[in-house]
Amino acid sequence: MHGSRRARWLATAVFLAVASAASGATAADVANGLQLSRQWCASCHLVEPSGVARDSAPSFASISNDPTTTPERLHAWLADPHPPMPGLDLAKQQEDDIIAYLKSLKTQ
Ligand code: HEC
Repeated sequence: MHGSRRARWLATAVFLAVASAASGATAADVANGLQLSRQWCASCHLVEPSGVARDSAPSFASISNDPTTTPERLHAWLADPHPPMPGLDLAKQQEDDIIAYLKSLKTQ
């Protein structure tokens, strides 16, 4: 009897550990968003908070400060951007992280 109670306790502990690891991974992560932006977006966009933007694409700072920018619009854009921006086929979690990073740039 003692052994099975211990097994049940262990199963609960493992379940809780997995559940909390999973919820940690779904929270949008600003630092990861910056990392992804440098990797996927910086060839066209200025993704850092300051610096000289290229003419070809708006800087992330100006996108984040545009009053018409909302998370919904950003998701829609990333799911289906129009030329000259290419479709990037990001995972939902990657979009969330990039959008969290964009939001962190908002100064106005
Ligand atoms: C190959 C170049 C290129 C890459 C790579 C690129 N973009 Fe763009 N992006 C553009 C251009 C050009 C525009 C302007 C399009 C326009 O105004 O019609 C744009 C516009 C945008 C806009 C503004 C949409 C709006 O509503 O005005 C957002 C947001 C955006 N990009 C996000 C991203 C993100 C996030 C990434 C990386 C995951 C990325 N872009 C990668 C070229 C690129």
